[in-house]
Amino acid sequence: MSSLIWLVLLSCSTLVISTKTASEANASQGKSIFILAGQSNMAGRGGIKRGMWDRYVPPECKPSQKVLRFNAQQKWEKAQPPLHRDIDYLKTCGIGPGLAFANSVLKKNLSIGDIGLVPCAIGGTQISEWRRGGPLYKQLLSRAHAALQGGGIIRAILWYQGESDTRSQEDAKLYKSRLQKFFTDIRSDLKLPKLPVIQVALASAEGPYIDEVRKAQLEIDLPNVKCVDAKGMKIGHDGLHLSTDGEVQVGKMMADAFAQFMA
Ligand SMILES: *[C@@H]1O[C@H](CO)[C@@H](O)[C@H](O)[C@H]1NC(C)=O
Ligand SMILES: *[C@@H]1O[C@H](CO)[C@@H](O)[C@H](O)[C@H]1NC(C)=O
Repeated sequence: MSSLIWLVLLSCSTLVISTKTASEANASQGKSIFILAGQSNMAGRGGIKRGMWDRYVPPECKPSQKVLRFNAQQKWEKAQPPLHRDIDYLKTCGIGPGLAFANSVLKKNLSIGDIGLVPCAIGGTQISEWRRGGPLYKQLLSRAHAALQGGGIIRAILWYQGESDTRSQEDAKLYKSRLQKFFTDIRSDLKLPKLPVIQVALASAEGPYIDEVRKAQLEIDLPNVKCVDAKGMKIGHDGLHLSTDGEVQVGKMMADAFAQFMA
């Protein structure tokens, strides 16, 4: 009798222990991964003056135990700004939209676990440089695959790019088809054909053809692609880069768009 009780107790406690270990392992592996790509306003130039970052971190971008960053050495670490410092390393990076996005998503209680950000944006790049098979495309894919090694699921691509495609009428004209092809190729190579994409319609530009590029972005015709409009966001003295405040607003808008995908 008593040995039977012991046996039952013993097997119950073993069961409890192994379940707990499994779910704890699950929690650390169940990250929600977001790919950040595009050019400088995704990499982040908020708070840059005379080539230096002012080191101001707004409350919306404060680091959290729940937000990780996949660094250039392909290791997860606590996300601290600037998120792209070792990726877009030829330029000085400041505040971008990534941390404001992540913190805003966490506040929405979407039950998606911890957040893993995979920075891939490079300043000054045109959409043609992101074509399938090119170095930027390959780097994005290899970082995405490496980020998945520790478990987790890719929830979305956050894309902010196009300022450099406003310099020539030819590039502006081809922007929509190039962008659609880029999204389609990336989804196909990640084997996630319906992967949500949240992209930004330009607030600023390097050349005169901003309206053409914005039109392409706002009219993009693919399922599961949402566009948030950065027009009117605060821009810094260079007339091109979003201020810290502008980046925070864009990050929050992208979080709102992501929440719509989860609704
Ligand atoms: C681990 O996560 C998967 C996928 O989210 C889920 O189906 C499974 O039930 C989880 N296992 C435990 C032990 O929590
Ligand atoms: C999320 O959960 C926290 C803690 O339970 C709560 O204070 C907060 O109001 C919730 N936010 C939303 C948007 O539901």
